[in-house]
Amino acid sequence: MAGIPRKVNYSSYDVPSVRGVDWAARVQLDELGLSSDACLPIDQAMPGAAQPIRYLHIFEDGEVSLGIFCLPKGACIPLHNHPGMTVFSRALLGRVHVLSFDWAEAHTDAMAGTVEGPAAPAREARRVLDCVMGSGDDPALLQPTSGGNIHQFTAVTDCAVLDLLTPPYSLDDGRDCTYYHVEGPGSGDGTFLLREAEPPSDFVVGALGMYDWD
Ligand SMILES: [Fe+2]
Repeated sequence: MAGIPRKVNYSSYDVPSVRGVDWAARVQLDELGLSSDACLPIDQAMPGAAQPIRYLHIFEDGEVSLGIFCLPKGACIPLHNHPGMTVFSRALLGRVHVLSFDWAEAHTDAMAGTVEGPAAPAREARRVLDCVMGSGDDPALLQPTSGGNIHQFTAVTDCAVLDLLTPPYSLDDGRDCTYYHVEGPGSGDGTFLLREAEPPSDFVVGALGMYDWD
């Protein structure tokens, strides 16, 4: 397990220079002692039913959170944001469709303190990615205001997606996860209106536990 980011200096967001990202960019499932069966266990209690999304937590400290989302074919992690965060995502297994957006205009003071939640006005966003990412493909890298900070994953096949977040979500620090849906086209080419939304009631992520480094 050499190279795990036990202690990383994330004092800047120059992500390619971050040791944890170097590790995340090259690690393979078998190096983690995982197989596709381990990532995508069939829940025998649910024969024939849709299998849930699961999350294997690998590592977390105040600066970075690292884990693997295991999605059965057809499963979807709905459109959500990563405020003030940088996220590195890579398919370790299978293929996943990535749809992502950045806001067309920066958040302004005029928006602060206005209505939030589904009643808030829809906001215009630029589509950044609408593509399929497979194991062996380049990872996706999103940053606070670029690279597609609001994204959605839909499993084209059973797949496992490694996700590295820096810094992690933190309610105390104002980094909560907000979900959105695409309300319709925006005013420009490749722009769309996004509105805050509750995630679908059938969106559930089950825990595969904390990765055991021993
Ligand atoms: Fe995400």
